[in-house]
Amino acid sequence: MKNIDSYNHVRGESIYLDDIPLQAETLYAAVYDSPIAHGKIKTLDMSEAKNAKGVIRILTAKDIPGENQIGGIVPDEELLADTHVHFCGMPIALIIADSEEHARLAVKKIKATFEPLPVITDPRVAKEKGELIIPPRTFQSGNIETAWKDCSYIFEGRADTNGQEHLYIETQGAYAIPQENGAIRIYSSTQGPTAVQRTAARVLGVPMNKLEVDTTRLGGGFGGKEDQATAWAVLCALASFHLKKPVKYSLHRMDDMRMTGKRHPYSSDFKIGLNKDLKILAYEAVFYQNAGAAADLSPAVMERTLFHCTNSYFVPNVKATAYSCRTHLPPNTAFRGFGGPQGMFVIEAAIAKAADELKIPASSIQEKNLIRTGEEFPYGQKADSEANECWQKTDELYQIKKLQEEINHFNASSDQYKKGMAIMPVCFGISFTKTLMNQARSLVHVYTDGSVGISTGAVEMGQGVNTKILQVAARIFSIEPSRIKINTTNTWRIANTSPTAASAAADLNGKATEIACMQILERLKKIAIEECVVTADIDKTEIPPFELKDEWIYINGKKTEWTWNKLVMAAYIKRVSLSELAHYTPPGIHFDPSKEKGHPFAYHVYGTAIVSVTVDCLRGIYEIDNVKVVHDFGKSMNTIVDLGQCEGGIVQGIGWMTMEEIVFDKDGKLRSNALSTYKVPDIYSVPKEITIHALETKRDNLAIFRSKAVGEPPLMYGIGAYFALRNAILAFNPNANIKFDAPMTPEKVLLNLYNEKSDQDMENGQSKSG
Ligand code: MTE
Ligand code: HPA
Ligand code: MOS
Repeated sequence: MKNIDSYNHVRGESIYLDDIPLQAETLYAAVYDSPIAHGKIKTLDMSEAKNAKGVIRILTAKDIPGENQIGGIVPDEELLADTHVHFCGMPIALIIADSEEHARLAVKKIKATFEPLPVITDPRVAKEKGELIIPPRTFQSGNIETAWKDCSYIFEGRADTNGQEHLYIETQGAYAIPQENGAIRIYSSTQGPTAVQRTAARVLGVPMNKLEVDTTRLGGGFGGKEDQATAWAVLCALASFHLKKPVKYSLHRMDDMRMTGKRHPYSSDFKIGLNKDLKILAYEAVFYQNAGAAADLSPAVMERTLFHCTNSYFVPNVKATAYSCRTHLPPNTAFRGFGGPQGMFVIEAAIAKAADELKIPASSIQEKNLIRTGEEFPYGQKADSEANECWQKTDELYQIKKLQEEINHFNASSDQYKKGMAIMPVCFGISFTKTLMNQARSLVHVYTDGSVGISTGAVEMGQGVNTKILQVAARIFSIEPSRIKINTTNTWRIANTSPTAASAAADLNGKATEIACMQILERLKKIAIEECVVTADIDKTEIPPFELKDEWIYINGKKTEWTWNKLVMAAYIKRVSLSELAHYTPPGIHFDPSKEKGHPFAYHVYGTAIVSVTVDCLRGIYEIDNVKVVHDFGKSMNTIVDLGQCEGGIVQGIGWMTMEEIVFDKDGKLRSNALSTYKVPDIYSVPKEITIHALETKRDNLAIFRSKAVGEPPLMYGIGAYFALRNAILAFNPNANIKFDAPMTPEKVLLNLYNEKSDQDMENGQSKSG
């Protein structure tokens, strides 16, 4: 079944925030944000702005009736800076005017002076200065201290990954409309309507039940609207609260890029130990997460880095420590993979380093160490592993050895162009790592004409969750998909929702929908058995089997004269409820942070990708030739949607690893602040070929209809692009001293192609073998 939104999307009829018809007297907001990264506000002169054309009011921290606080995990983030600013782009004042243009023009008329304070942009420096968001955490298994003694080879190094701009097509935005009795309806382009509701209640000092947050769909979120949609929605609500008028704010692209956080850059140290058979015996990693100026979701992101620090591998002795470091950048936030990719990059770098030094392909280390069923991750959960199956299937289908030989053959006969290939196995845990967030509710109404309306906590952001939820109801009721409507995500209909994140929306909300539909079906079944007895000519002494198939009712396998519609009407006449609100939470998950052990994930998703590239060694430019994947879908309930998720994730992952380069200067100013200076993959830079083979696994799992979550895992295949480029560079210049420092932009490729390991590097080489 195709995505239910495809028709409207193509015709431009889908409703995004900017498509909501505006009410009369709507006002427009714009933010005056900090021009410096760290300092004390000395003076704030708003007189000229106040008198500017069309300006209605300017709000500052003093105008907040409740708490000036939007921090979700740690209360460390002001909505509007009061006395100090902590990053370039931090909102200081909110201007409300009669038009968007007037609001923006007035922003330029605000004059402020600051007493600058020292700016930190490097997480290692922040750590040295004790600037940590939360205390460090360490995941451990086995005994790392004694394990080094058993290693034949030990290698150490450093690996860095940069941030990533979400670049959702629809920028951040909200529209708040006052209702009667002090209530406010907030339309918000958010992945977390409840986060908006909770935070707006806190800032306004009103109870949550006064705030109706409604989200139709997002033009992309990718994690960037899990937490960071909240500020803009709360600002609109604040203005609407004071002025009793509808207030809208949707950010311009450059404002969005400047003021919002991104994927966390990480700087990490690794040490890996192997025995003679290439088994990884020990792995130690230290992660320095660049959290930015406030916690936002950083502690949770950091936790997932630790969970995924060994990727798809079983390592018996592990010690991984992570520091969430406070710097003066916009608070970094969720981004597809949520810290997992940053952790995986480091162990892949460690393996690549070991492979270089041992003069063997990385794949021979990777394959040897894939986690097997029953083996334990460092956090105590035992694997139900498809890692080896994915790898073997990849080899069988695409023939790793042959591909490598073809590349070697090409490289031997080509001077200007060199090819490189890398294999990227992935293992990603499904569930919010915070156990309590794994819950969802679904409200299903069957109307008397047999049509169905469904509301859940899931937010549609292009990933197709609404299509999947619709499929769930269509399957349980066995009715035409066209008879089902998925409604907006709304905090008055569905309360206390978790954000649509962690790839878990279809599982959690789909299962809640399944339960709701099953309960309605049970009631209908009772009526069918009572009412259909006469027509179906059945044995009245036993409870006959009931079946609904394509809108017809079958009793004891015999088609009756009853349709879905007739049955629904009969239930209504008998005063039987045709509505249900169901709750779902996955069984068996738990985690004890005091021990850093537990069973945090409902299940894992596995896969293996081969990424091949060609580098132009004269210019440093490159192409991604192909990505060949075997991906563990469980049993996909929607192949089109799931393949789309894979392709999108892969391209986004490749972008992060190759061309997307966020640049902050030493003063904490974003230099890559527009699409002219920040490059994302376009149609010309996507891989020439992406082949995805579905590994359909029979194993039972907790996914909806055994269709495994797919939103985030494929992004991590993109990491292979970095290592493929690295291999191509090494084919040209075997002495290149390539730092593990992503992204591998064409500039960096060029520098590496012509860089030689200096004598000093060789002497100081951190690697030793024994
Ligand atoms: N796909 C599209 N088209 N747009 C998005 O914003 N977000 C990704 C992924 N796929 C995203 C997307 C992220 S970060 C997550 S967590 C999942 O979708 C969330 O949706 P799901 O739980 O329904 O998979
Ligand atoms: N993944 C994504 N988003 C989240 C998580 C998670 O594990 N925890 C809190 N928000
Ligand atoms: Mo996705 S980063 O969990 O929104």
